Amino acid sequence: MMTYIQGLPKVELHLHIEGSLEPDLMFDLAKRNQITIPFNSPEEVEAAYQFDDLQSFLDIYYQGANVLIHEQDFFDLTWAYLLRCQQDNVIHTEIFFDPQTHTARGIAFETVINGIDKALKKGREELGISSQIIMCFLRHLDQDSAFETLRQALPHKDKIIGVGLDSSEQGHPPAKFQQVFEEAMNHGFLTVAHAGEEGPAQNIHNAMKLLGVARVDHGVRCVEDPQLVEQLIKDRTPLTVCPLSNIKLKVFSTMGEHNIVELLRQGLCVTVNSDDPAYFGGYMTDNFVAVAEALPVTFEELKQLSLNAIEASFITEEEKQQLVKKVESFCDTFHS
Ligand code: ADE
Ligand code: ZN
Repeated sequence: MMTYIQGLPKVELHLHIEGSLEPDLMFDLAKRNQITIPFNSPEEVEAAYQFDDLQSFLDIYYQGANVLIHEQDFFDLTWAYLLRCQQDNVIHTEIFFDPQTHTARGIAFETVINGIDKALKKGREELGISSQIIMCFLRHLDQDSAFETLRQALPHKDKIIGVGLDSSEQGHPPAKFQQVFEEAMNHGFLTVAHAGEEGPAQNIHNAMKLLGVARVDHGVRCVEDPQLVEQLIKDRTPLTVCPLSNIKLKVFSTMGEHNIVELLRQGLCVTVNSDDPAYFGGYMTDNFVAVAEALPVTFEELKQLSLNAIEASFITEEEKQQLVKKVESFCDTFHS
């Protein structure tokens, strides 16, 4: 099954590019940009990655992003992630970035987007990995700041498929961003939001009702509301689930208690994703393996997880059919 997981063509829909900053690259960039970081070695950085909850992670994650200054830094970060995608047979990825984490430090919006976009273009040309970009508003900041970020994004609309909402869920419900999401949708952006990770099922309900989201990021706490689960099944609203992240941030105590397979069997459009792989101990293959090791998942269900991600992606029907063919062809060959 491990060989099958490794070779299975995969689609990633929940990946924060800043969360793919590996300690080695963090050190290289700190040196290159003469930024002081509170660690003496990459090993010391890794040792610091012990989290109690979402906030304890976010504090370290925002600090790590301080080494990213120039367009080349964002390019290098994104390219390193794409090389990991290639290793894991990720054939399509939709990545998040957090503009405010950088603009608040005086880094121009275009420095960030251009670095990421150029690497993704090279990934399409040289690695055959297709991609989309989603920009997230930080929910611990106010809606005015999100509006300002939306304004900065408008000249780059051709590079950005959608807007999302991330950072501290507790105390910052979807309603806080209803107007800016409405404005984003008026400009033609698709919408997603983190909801039901640490926050209650009500946040999932409101992300759909108030923010018009096409997918829910995480969403694992939907089980607390059976009526909501029924609706998610009926509408096939995708959940971008991040198994290793959920364990690292103590959303579930152990992988054996994770509800991803239970949700899949109930008929929800759940997908597997890596969230912040440099911080949570693994990329796409690692996440699939962690699920398969701890939970009773079949070959057919692993394939379904990949097909769900294709269904949930922000690409055309024709492009989806191309990706489905790749998955079908791999599975046929594997079993023959
Ligand atoms: N930003 C990066 N990773 C996140 C997560 N898992 N939840 C909320 N915000 C995030
Ligand atoms: Zn996330």
